[in-house]
Amino acid sequence: ILTGRQVYKQYKEYSQEKLSLCGWVRSNRDSRDFGFLVINDGTFFEPIQIVYGKELSNFTEVKKLSVGTAVIVKGILTETPDARQPFEIQAESVEVEGESPSDYPLQKKRHSFEYLRTIAHLRPRANTFQAVYRVRSLIAYAIHKFFMERDFVYVHTPIISGQDCEGAGEMFQVTTLDLEELSQGKKLDYREDFFERETSLTVSGQLNGEVFAQAFRNIYTFGPTFRAEESNTTRHAAEFWMIEPEMAFADLKDNMLLAEKMIKYIIKYVLEQAPEEMEFFNKFVDKGLLDRLRHVAESEFARVTYTEAIDILKEHNDKFQYPVSWGTDLQTEHERYLTEKVFKKPVFVTDYPKEIKAFYMKQNPDGKTVAAVDLLVPGIGEIIGGSQREDDLDKLRMRMEELKMNLSDYDFYLDLRKYGSARHSGFGLGFERMVMYVTGMANIRDVIPFPRTAGKCEF
Ligand code: 4AD
Ligand code: MG
Repeated sequence: ILTGRQVYKQYKEYSQEKLSLCGWVRSNRDSRDFGFLVINDGTFFEPIQIVYGKELSNFTEVKKLSVGTAVIVKGILTETPDARQPFEIQAESVEVEGESPSDYPLQKKRHSFEYLRTIAHLRPRANTFQAVYRVRSLIAYAIHKFFMERDFVYVHTPIISGQDCEGAGEMFQVTTLDLEELSQGKKLDYREDFFERETSLTVSGQLNGEVFAQAFRNIYTFGPTFRAEESNTTRHAAEFWMIEPEMAFADLKDNMLLAEKMIKYIIKYVLEQAPEEMEFFNKFVDKGLLDRLRHVAESEFARVTYTEAIDILKEHNDKFQYPVSWGTDLQTEHERYLTEKVFKKPVFVTDYPKEIKAFYMKQNPDGKTVAAVDLLVPGIGEIIGGSQREDDLDKLRMRMEELKMNLSDYDFYLDLRKYGSARHSGFGLGFERMVMYVTGMANIRDVIPFPRTAGKCEF
């Protein structure tokens, strides 16, 4: 049985040939003596039209097939140069593999994304989600391809972690302790826990990534990360994937060059590999998406320091819910204003105040800022967060003491600064935010197959 993709890619070679296809019914229109069955097997975005007539032994049964039915069709491929689809299949037989009763929740009409979220087990069959999840899969491949072509080593960093890399305290605890006993007054003692210490789901693979960068020079991670962020927004999930390259003998400029190349590479790859899906997004999800992405892939990203960004934003403080001044963290509204209204393209913001960034970032000579970089993009805001890392043992130790961190948890990390400490930099790309950016989808819940957000975790 051929796939829809195989047939689409080579329909001219199959012209007038007899072939077998399978798929699920998208629509079924019938007249008295013939009918049109539109099926899709998920391997190609465009569906395939099957024409059937009275010569089918089960003609009356096929006429009644409803949306969602799984079928196997045998028939002759006929080219249809004037129709929307370049060919159709003249059915010789239509075999029912699995029926779909009329209460099937996905009918031919357009359903709202909100409704589709309530049927996460069926929405992958809907057009939009066929496109989203295929593009998601392609972006993942493009990322591996990008890094492999540049000789980066892919490192699997642990999911269960003993550190809070970002120091934001947004961790999901992992424990085998008996919560019931604890609630009845038993004293909490992590020595009795599975790992004989406190552990949590990782918020970032960076610290482990740095270990490997000091051995392999250029590495990347690509895995799930977890944050117990209460913020109920369209761009935060409790479980999301992150790509974290780390490069030894590289500074903040090298970091930005890599990030810019990577983003452009991903965009070009998807435009090339998923033209049907991208046309669909451009038409039905985000008008103008294609032109914007093509432009981004060809033009240079903007660069601005945090201090310069604050000076620009201060002029527009009346427009913000939270006015800014030097030292305030940038909120989504500020990030979007910068990238959408001021620069009108992706913009790197560098050198943030050290107080609003993580402990590991390299301190700048001014004593106030660190060598941090965020990449902001229109429609989303922050898509990448990164930095050059502090490679000076004493400075790092002092900063960690200032922040009252438990240094004994970080012996391994300090050792990296003790033995052959090489200047190094890296960043984290939020995978789902990248999928949103490329597809134009507005809600992170609609680019994750099974989203986990505050108050929501279904199968
Ligand atoms: O800026 P963040 O917190 O940076 C780090 O975790 C660093 N350790 C990365 C590094 O330098 N290796 O997170 C990186 C990116 C953000 O820019 C954002 O795109 C994404 O991860 N992100 C989230 N995406 C979805 N839901 C959330 N709750 C996210 N939190 C961060
Ligand atoms: Mg960040």
